[in-house]
Order: sequence, then C-alpha cells, then structure tokens
Amino acid sequence: MTDRELMELAVKAREYSYAPYSGFHVGAALLGKSGRVYTGCNVENASYTPTNCAERTAVFKAVSEGERSFEAIAIVGGRGEQLSPLCAPCGVCRQVLAEFCEGELRVLLGTPDAVTVTQLSSLLPLSFGKSDLT
Ligand code: THU
Repeated sequence: MTDRELMELAVKAREYSYAPYSGFHVGAALLGKSGRVYTGCNVENASYTPTNCAERTAVFKAVSEGERSFEAIAIVGGRGEQLSPLCAPCGVCRQVLAEFCEGELRVLLGTPDAVTVTQLSSLLPLSFGKSDLT
C-alpha cells in the first residue's frame, strides 16, 4: 500500500461524510499491521457534541473488528467539495490514536497530490498513556 493509495482511500471515505452542520467533510484511512485498511468519515449530530471525527470512526471500526496495531493513517478534509491543503487531526483523535500506537504511527496529511508525512509522536508529544496508570 503506497502513501498515495492510502490517501486516495481517505478521499473515497470522505464521500460518506455526514456533516450537515459544519459543512466540513473529513475522510480517514487507517492501515493496520495486518495489511487491512479501515476507513472512516465524520458523522455529525443535531446535538453537536455526539459528533464523531473521521479518524475515530476508523479506529473504532478497526478495534471492533479485532485489529489494534497500526502502520499509518491518511486524513483528508475540507469544506464542501474542496479539499484543504492540510487537515490535521484534532486533539481528541490524537489521544485515541495514541492509545493503540504509542506515538509510532505514520500520519499522512494533505492531498493525494501533495502529501505531508509526520509521526503521531510529533503531533502529540509528552502524551498521557497506559504506562502513566501503573
Ligand atoms: N473533524 C474530523 O472529522 N476530524 C478532525 O480531526 C477534525 C474535525 C470533523 C468534526 C466535525 O464534523 C467537522 O470536522 C468540523 O469540526
């Protein structure tokens, strides 16, 4: 799976985004260590706070299907039809990703034609995790 292919799967997942309130549509594609890809989109709610981000949709799909180790996640977003040059994951999604990756996750941002590659550890330094609870 190339970075471009994973980004394109995120673009495809974004088509299912349910965002009637913000008009901001996000898609994510999460590559598991098994080689399987779990896609997700944001799902908004009239009560606003139950809204689920695309990244968490993908993580919850994966974990609920038995996969807990991940190689990479691609994230794309933007208003209406338009893709933003870069849509970074929110803080809550960074924390949810860290639960399963301990910072070692490639994060692909931008668009299929202009990918920015970073690491979860760069996006969430000094994170709180399971080792803090022991
Ligand atoms: N959103 C995501 O899906 N992922 C993020 O990391 C940032 C924000 C969604 C939530 C909401 O539906 C819309 O974008 C505007 O915040």
